[in-house]
Order: sequence, then C-alpha cells, then structure tokens
Amino acid sequence: MSRSPDVAIIGGTGVYDVPGLRLGDAHVHDTAYGQALLRFGRFADDSGSSAEVVFLARHGTEHTIPPHRVNYRANIAALQDLGVGAVVATAAVGSLRRDLPPGRLVLLDQFLDFTRCRPSTFFDGDGRVEHTDMTQPYDATVRKLLIQAAQRAGIELESRGTYVCTEGPRFETTAEVAMFAGLGGDVVGMTNVPEVVLAREAGLSYAAVALITNLGAGLSPSPLTHEEVVEAMEENAKQLADLLAALFCGFARAHKE
Ligand code: HPA
Repeated sequence: MSRSPDVAIIGGTGVYDVPGLRLGDAHVHDTAYGQALLRFGRFADDSGSSAEVVFLARHGTEHTIPPHRVNYRANIAALQDLGVGAVVATAAVGSLRRDLPPGRLVLLDQFLDFTRCRPSTFFDGDGRVEHTDMTQPYDATVRKLLIQAAQRAGIELESRGTYVCTEGPRFETTAEVAMFAGLGGDVVGMTNVPEVVLAREAGLSYAAVALITNLGAGLSPSPLTHEEVVEAMEENAKQLADLLAALFCGFARAHKE
C-alpha cells in the first residue's frame, strides 16, 4: 500500500464487507495488546479516483467473537499503527424509542456506559495517568462527512443519537430498557464502549453509524433473538453499504482535487 488508508471500517454484526470495495486477504497485525485481523482494499469511483480502505470485522470474519470478548485495544492500536485518516464503525442496535423503528440509521453523538468488565483504556499501569476529554466522544469532521455522504446518496440518517452500551452478551430486561430511555438513551448495543473511548485515547477520528435492528426488550412484541438481529441487518445492509460507498467516493474525490 502506497499511502496510509484514508478510512478504516469497523464492521459490526452483519457487515463483513462493502459491495464495490475490493478487499484483499485477511492480514494479521500484531500489537502490544494482541492481534487484529485486517483486510486492505481499494474503492474506485466512476472517474477512476480511489480511496484506500482498511476493513476490520469486529466479531471476526465468521462472527465468533462475542461483544464482551472483542479485543478492542488490539483493534484500535492496529488502526493507530496504520495512521488511518478516519474510522467509521457500524453497530447493530435495539431502539429505546418507538418513534425510531427498525431499519433506521442513527449517527451516534453521545454514549452512556453500562459496561462492567472490559479492558477499556490504553492508560493502564504503565506509569501514565491520563484523563481523556469525552465531552463530544465522536469526531465532528467524520460525522459531517457521513451526513454529507447520506445526503448525496439520498439515505435517511438520524443526525444524532445517544448509545447505551451494556456488557452483554444477554439482551436487556424490560426494566433496563425503560431506565435507559428515561436516562436519555436512544439506542442500545453491546460494543461501542470501549471502542469509541479507545479511539479517542489513541487520537483517531472516529464516528459510528448504528442500524436499528429491533425495538428494545419490552417495546418489542416478541422476545429478542440474535437471529432477528442478523435478519434485520441483512434486510438493511444495502442502505448501510450505500452510505459507506458514498463516503468512499468523497475520499476518492478529495484525492483527485
Ligand atoms: N440490545 C443490545 N444489543 C443489541 C440489540 C438490543 O436490543 N439489538 C442489536 N444489538
């Protein structure tokens, strides 16, 4: 690869590649925190300009790593080593609001952290005492690029949303969903913390797009299953892929200018 990747995609549940993105074989990247599995690729637009992309499947290529066991530190450290310009993560989420139904895309702007036992910092016992500002955890520039990409592609994207991160891997109780909604949460998932936190600690420009796959427990008419989440992701994968393709076109165009 001749230059650092323009953008890294951390693909969540149901997102293992992006149509139009030519990805190479998986490549193991060693970090101080363990290994990350990366695939490098190139996205060419109609005029022949291209964006360099690196793709990381958060749950592994065969979806074998549950949310509480993802090696978030290795993943983010690997992207930091590569010097990526921007990181865009995808996440399957449950909705905490009936007016945000399954199928909607939400660009996250805040989080509430209910995780319990995950390594969640790079500043851990090496003599450095650091407290990272988290006032606006998601990068404003990458958020703007995603909003513009959605407009260009004619995709409806909620421009803000508060993500509640649970420890998982179980889904929530009815009472938890009611509490999270009462606290100001919009969507609930199991992976965005510590990913966004580590990205900020590492100085990466990180934003995340959540796809609502179901109404949260108790709002949903039936008990939740992982299969339901995967099916909803499959049904809506196209709009997410179109959004990412429009984003890549923006990076490709920037190289031409
Ligand atoms: N809760 C937690 N994580 C999820 C959900 C949910 O309802 N849907 C998809 N990921």
